[in-house]
Amino acid sequence: MDRFVIHGGRRLEGRVTAASAKNAVLPILAACLLTDEECVIRGVPRLEDVATMARLLETMGVEVAWRGRTVRLRAGRVSERAPYDIVRKMRASYYVLGPLVGRLGRAEVSLPGGCAIGARPVDLHLKGIEALGAEVRVEHGYIKARARKLRGAGMVLEGTNGPSVGATANTMMAAVLAQGITEIRGAACEPEVADLAAFLNRMGARVEGAGTPTVRVRGVSRLRGAEHRPIPDRIEAGTLAVAAAMTRGQVEIRNCRPDHLGVVIETLRATGAEVTARRTSLAVSGPGRPGPVIIGTAPYPGFPTDLQAQFTALLCLARGTSVVTESIFENRFLHAMELARMGAQIEVTGRTAVIKGVARLQSAQVMASDLRASAALVLAGLVARGETVVRRIYHLDRGYERLEQKLAGLGARIERLAE
Ligand code: UD1
Repeated sequence: MDRFVIHGGRRLEGRVTAASAKNAVLPILAACLLTDEECVIRGVPRLEDVATMARLLETMGVEVAWRGRTVRLRAGRVSERAPYDIVRKMRASYYVLGPLVGRLGRAEVSLPGGCAIGARPVDLHLKGIEALGAEVRVEHGYIKARARKLRGAGMVLEGTNGPSVGATANTMMAAVLAQGITEIRGAACEPEVADLAAFLNRMGARVEGAGTPTVRVRGVSRLRGAEHRPIPDRIEAGTLAVAAAMTRGQVEIRNCRPDHLGVVIETLRATGAEVTARRTSLAVSGPGRPGPVIIGTAPYPGFPTDLQAQFTALLCLARGTSVVTESIFENRFLHAMELARMGAQIEVTGRTAVIKGVARLQSAQVMASDLRASAALVLAGLVARGETVVRRIYHLDRGYERLEQKLAGLGARIERLAE
């Protein structure tokens, strides 16, 4: 298990390139199951979650060939079973459900189980494919779905916490080969959903409205191979932007889509950071101590839950008291206790954290608990005086490609040590 050792106190300066979005890449890789022709995905980040998805697809019979960051996939004959051993490592494995039911009319996908940040049920995923006519049972920890022929249908896919990115994507992938028209209302509007639709359409699907609350899919009889370069990772860009603001540095993030970061940019500006948005890059500088803000996470285009932990770290240093409310996942303040060990003053009650800014954070030994919480601890380490050790970096590696190298390239003193 690797750890990071960080000597805080350096301003970050320079240019850095964000990777393609993990959350777009994962469903796009799964979508390759929908055709027996070769698909080529370019600019794929070498992340643990991507490796897990590739391994899962290989177990199911897909040929996967890497060359640098280009991956070629051919799903000639595929098995319908996604085994527990791999699914338990990554929830997003459930993305094979929709494509399998769409292409084979059957699927056996292990239930993913909960995770540190909350229960994360799959009811909406099942609702989506059941609405298309699949029969779904849960047996021995597996979701077993069967359908003679999927038929397009209307459905509302919103749950009590709002729309679901995963359920929208899964249902879209099942519907592209169904007979007739599907209308998903209450669809998630995240750019990653729209990017998946763009890829499906390149394969010959007819998906309209992805990126809005109503997605319409006209089923086709077959899909062909296609090439695609997924959109830039808005969460990685947001993390790097916070790193720039927190260290009072000046950083330009390339391969970035500021139009996907609207509220995030507004929030950064509200803390006093200077942000210049161009078409494909973002320049951020942090002239001084941030001002306090109020943040509430919400489905896109609201403030992303995946940047909540990083902004919480930033607000630990604010001149005043900030309030952060997490409305997507019920247990997503695991970083608060660890930040407190670094001198932060955070009080969490239910889904709300009240953060009293302090002038400085102190170095400490801390433990990562989940992907974005790890990023928050690394950010705190960049500004804390002395040596901070962040353990369990494997959580971070699931979603960031060598974050330490990107930060070191900007002047941070950070190194990875094998435990
Ligand atoms: C995706 C992202 C994750 C991000 C999240 C919210 C991927 C691989 N992961 O996760 O990084 O934090 O969106 O932006 O893209 N829910 C249900 N029933 C369901 C499904 C979801 O009640 O069947 C609830 C969830 O518990 C949560 C809310 O809906 O409260 C949103 O979850 P969802 O959008 O589905 O998240 P994921 O797709 O799992």
